[in-house]
Amino acid sequence: MAKYITICFLLLASGASAFTSRTSPSTYEPRPYIVALNESLIEEARLKASTFRNSVDGNTPAWLDGPPASDIEALAQYWVDEYDWSTTQVEINANFSHFYTTVPPPSENYTEPVDLHFIHQRSSRDDAIPILFLHGWPSTSLEWGKVIPSLINPESSTDPAFHVVAPDFPGFGFSPDFTGSRENVTRAEYATIFTDLMSQLKYDRFLLYSTDLGFAVANSLIVDYADRVINHISDFYYIFPTDEDHARLEANLTTPEESTYILASDDFFGYHSGYSAIHRTLPLALAYTLNDSPIGFLAWYYHLADVVSDRPFSPHDVVTNTLLLWIPGVYGNIRSYKELFGVFIPDENYTVPTSVLQFGGTQHYPALEGLTFAVSLLETDYWTMRRC
Ligand SMILES: *[C@@H]1O[C@H](CO)[C@@H](O)[C@H](O)[C@H]1NC(C)=O
Ligand SMILES: *[C@@H]1O[C@H](CO)[C@@H](O)[C@H](O)[C@H]1NC(C)=O
Ligand SMILES: *[C@@H]1O[C@H](CO)[C@@H](O)[C@H](O)[C@H]1NC(C)=O
Ligand SMILES: *[C@@H]1O[C@H](CO)[C@@H](O)[C@H](O)[C@H]1NC(C)=O
Ligand SMILES: *[C@@H]1O[C@H](CO)[C@@H](O)[C@H](O)[C@H]1NC(C)=O
Ligand SMILES: *[C@@H]1O[C@H](CO)[C@@H](O)[C@H](O)[C@H]1NC(C)=O
Repeated sequence: MAKYITICFLLLASGASAFTSRTSPSTYEPRPYIVALNESLIEEARLKASTFRNSVDGNTPAWLDGPPASDIEALAQYWVDEYDWSTTQVEINANFSHFYTTVPPPSENYTEPVDLHFIHQRSSRDDAIPILFLHGWPSTSLEWGKVIPSLINPESSTDPAFHVVAPDFPGFGFSPDFTGSRENVTRAEYATIFTDLMSQLKYDRFLLYSTDLGFAVANSLIVDYADRVINHISDFYYIFPTDEDHARLEANLTTPEESTYILASDDFFGYHSGYSAIHRTLPLALAYTLNDSPIGFLAWYYHLADVVSDRPFSPHDVVTNTLLLWIPGVYGNIRSYKELFGVFIPDENYTVPTSVLQFGGTQHYPALEGLTFAVSLLETDYWTMRRC
């Protein structure tokens, strides 16, 4: 059935420094890193949260126009009265091995060295396989925090074990933003940056796990560095319905699964993707507001994170995840949409084996359920997918 979806086409488809420990000289060697955010900036965020001016949401159905004002009020109160970054920071340092490095300028189109923070957690198993995790927005290397322990030390000796490498993209989490002009940065530069990181760690071949914007980077990496990747695994194999698909839908020529999928995708892009349109057109114009209002940014983050998730985030995690993107400066991370959004089609046919997984269900947005059909559509036409 998936042959009707045009898979080949689709696949295709600051200010003050926040980092007090960033004093080592630039070097292309990874070095241990201790997370130590600028405490005045943390306190500044809390004070701004305490003077936050809420919006009145009237009778808008919950989540239709944005997150409910009562949720934002409660999260602001929590941030001001209860949230404690210092204990969170102690845990982040205690639970993971952090490193910092600089990679060489990736290409003629971006000629500055790039500083990166990354988590590198090695398994004690001799047969462990290196795995590189590429996150998206709104996210950081800590997206994988809850699964890293069991990947390194699986309960059963018959389960595979991994050496985990989870970088923060530039301008996300503990990686500073690019220092040079990003005018000509594309997913190819990102792919080179992260492959160079794996080279510095002496990982010749590795597994690649991607989600969201990381999927765009992965689709460059599997073409440009095909001999380095053992297998690409993605939970974000997003297929954009084409004009032809829409025409078949109109003419009742789609299967029920295709119809559900196309309508869910249209619904998302029609009603819930405004954030991405702004990020990829006017990221700087928006960033002034989001940088100035930590709670405004929290609401922006919270809407997307909560709507597309299958379970609620705790207030603690909402504030932590907001801070992790607010601290380095919001422009640096939302700007990546201009470089990575929607460029999901690999430039060439690729040979790297690809695995797709998809988690079902969203808590506030039943229309998105239809997107879970993507996997069954892809499975039927796996070989078409691999040819693309
Ligand atoms: C920490 O942040 C404050 C407030 O933004 C700023 O004035 C200060 O220069 C920063 N400290 C460092 C070491 O960057
Ligand atoms: C650190 O690990 C502890 C124990 O597993 C866990 O309760 C806590 O949530 C973790 N914190 C972070 C920030 O990963
Ligand atoms: C640099 O960008 C130009 C277009 O802006 C492109 O034609 C060229 O292929 C790029 N170079 C590399 C090495 O990617
Ligand atoms: C981007 O590419 C254009 C066209 O090649 C070039 O004129 C411009 O100088 C480049 N910008 C940067 C910052 O490298
Ligand atoms: C498609 O099917 C619906 C429902 O059965 C029907 O109302 C509609 O007229 C059909 N459209 C076309 C173009 O056949
Ligand atoms: C990919 O493979 C298909 C089927 O073999 C072929 O039609 C297409 O031209 C190839 N695309 C590229 C970009 O090489």
